[in-house]
This record gives sequence, structure tokens and C-alpha cells, in this order.
Amino acid sequence: MKKAAAAAAIRHVPDGCVVGVGSGSTSNFFIAELGAIQHRIRGAVASSEATARRLKNLGIAVLDLNSVEELPVYVDGADEVTRQLAMIKGGGGALTREKIVAAVARRFVCIADQFKLVDVLGKFPLPVEVVPMARAYVSRELVRLGGSPEMRKDFTTDNGNVILDVHKLSIRAPAELEGALNQIVGVVTNGLFARRAADVLLLGTERGVQTFER
Ligand code: 5RP
Repeated sequence: MKKAAAAAAIRHVPDGCVVGVGSGSTSNFFIAELGAIQHRIRGAVASSEATARRLKNLGIAVLDLNSVEELPVYVDGADEVTRQLAMIKGGGGALTREKIVAAVARRFVCIADQFKLVDVLGKFPLPVEVVPMARAYVSRELVRLGGSPEMRKDFTTDNGNVILDVHKLSIRAPAELEGALNQIVGVVTNGLFARRAADVLLLGTERGVQTFER
């Protein structure tokens, strides 16, 4: 189902463009598909070091986001996604770079299997990237917001920070919570993608790929 969703995303990649590429197992299927049509694109912007390595291994040019004027499309997976196309991301810890690339992209195409579709976000623990010296303070603030944060063990992000995975949140107003979390000093990014939600969801299901659009 992940592979089918990834394959369907290729028709959202315009000829001659630079494409933003996400991280995780679904994105890895997309990278493989991109390898097959690499003659049609100028190159890619990667949302993680791991994705950059995979792209380079296939011979796809990896460009610095700062050198790119236009990013027509960003393709990435999600840990949870609603029918309104708000998402939880960051299960792989790449949320900050993913959010930056998503912000620049004109269109966000989310690729996922049917198990990622939810009515209410929050069963999947919400990743929050935190500057290491602020870990204890941010944890206390997250508890005040009703969450139960757990430090991700033996993990450092590509940006040198730690991740707190926040359990027990039932997120009925994702855009508001995303904003509130961003206000906590020491938080670099949180894994809610509601203010910049996806534009298209390609959902791999038992009955084929379903498309949801905003
Ligand atoms: C990584 C992410 C991924 O998109 C998310 O974790 C989904 O992963 P997968 O495609 O392996 O299910 O946000 O930071």
C-alpha cells in the first residue's frame, strides 16, 4: 500500500522541476520511483541526511534548499493523517527539516497506507524536537498541556537535538496546539503539520490508491 501510494505520487512531479523529498519507509519507495524518472527532473531537496544519501546513491542531484528558488512539490509520508489533511510527522525524527521543506513547497503530497488515516490525531505519540539543555523544562511544560512526554532513547536529530515523544494527547484542534507548542522556549519544532497541512493525500488501500484533496 505504501509502494502504490509512492508510485501514484510520480504524476504530481512536473517535468524539469526540483522536487522536495521526505523521509521514512514510504518516502523510500518514492525515492526508488524517482530514480526511474530522474532524467525528467533537475534534482531534489532532501528532508534528512538519510534521504540525501539514498538520492545520491541513485545518481539524483541533491540541492541545497537555499539555492532553490522554486519547489513546486514536496512528497512525504506521515505517521497519522486526517481527512482534513492535518498530520503528525516525525516518527523518524526528521520533522524539522521536513517542516522547512514543506513550508517552501507550493504543494505537499502526502503518501501513506490506509492505517495512517485517523479521525483524531494523537494516538501516535507527537514528536517534539528540543534543544538538549531545555529538555527538562520543555517536558514540564508539555505535562502542563496534558501530555506525557518521553525522551526518545539513543537518538539525536540531524540538527543535534533531542526528541520528546508526547503520549496521551487527543488533538482536536491541531493548528492551535501546533502554535502553542511552538511558543515553548527550547522547542525547535513539533510534529503537527496542521498550519501547513498536506494539499493532497494519496492513500494506499486494499482497494487501490484513494486521493483526498483540500
Ligand atoms: C519521518 C516522518 C515519516 O514521514 C513518518 O514517520 C512516516 O514514516 P513511514 O513512511 O516509515 O511510515 O515523518 O520523520
